[in-house]
Amino acid sequence: MTDRTPEPPLWEQMAQQSAELPQGERLQKVLAAVGFGSRRTCEDLITQERVTVNGETAILGRRVDAENDLVEVDGAPIGVKPGLVYYVLNKPQGVITTSSDTHDRTTVLDLVPNEPRVFSIGRLDLETEGLLLITNDGELANRIAHPSHGVDKEYLAEVDGGEVSAGKLRSLRDGVELDDGVTAPAKVSQPSPGILKITIHEGKNRQVRRMCEAIGHPVTRLVRTRIGPMQDRSLEPGAWREWTNDERNAMVEAVATTRGRP
Ligand code: URA
Repeated sequence: MTDRTPEPPLWEQMAQQSAELPQGERLQKVLAAVGFGSRRTCEDLITQERVTVNGETAILGRRVDAENDLVEVDGAPIGVKPGLVYYVLNKPQGVITTSSDTHDRTTVLDLVPNEPRVFSIGRLDLETEGLLLITNDGELANRIAHPSHGVDKEYLAEVDGGEVSAGKLRSLRDGVELDDGVTAPAKVSQPSPGILKITIHEGKNRQVRRMCEAIGHPVTRLVRTRIGPMQDRSLEPGAWREWTNDERNAMVEAVATTRGRP
């Protein structure tokens, strides 16, 4: 004889958990959205009993309220997978965006902690300043860097030649012909004469500099001021910090909701 109460059949447990939270998101969808892999992979995590919701082992079919439920994988809250780090750096001029430089110049990775090993998401030219994201999360990095997710990047460009005419601003907005193709439509404004605010979602090499050169106003100073939801005007040149949870969630959402841009 055993005094253990028999477990209700699995389908009853599933029905009970779903009935409790009928409007929640499916757990595997939530896990996939924060970078744990495909929905299939996330279903496997659940069936392997590696996922808990508010401390209870979750079963397939579980729905969750991603805002309020505490979802953990292998004991770590899903907001951040164990071992993953996310930095935002204000890159100064003259610092190169590669992991090592043959001429022994300072690289962006010299400005952030050595361990764990990290890489930058995309790059900025040697003379470009401003925000650069650095991580060891390859999956999220790919999604942010891939033009199809359309994470937009905003730049302030100081250009030669004084005030840019309305016609030239329109050309920048509509797309300018570069030697590797026409640029996609961009948002462009001129907050003061000779200073352009340009938002693009492509990642062509030296794109902003070449766009401005193509309209006859070469760039004299270029600063990246925003990457999707990430901006920080108080970070000093050369300084870095970790992303906040809100920033990480906003970034994950930005790459999920902009999916499918051509
Ligand atoms: N466009 C440029 O021209 N340079 C950069 O570093 C980034 C965007």
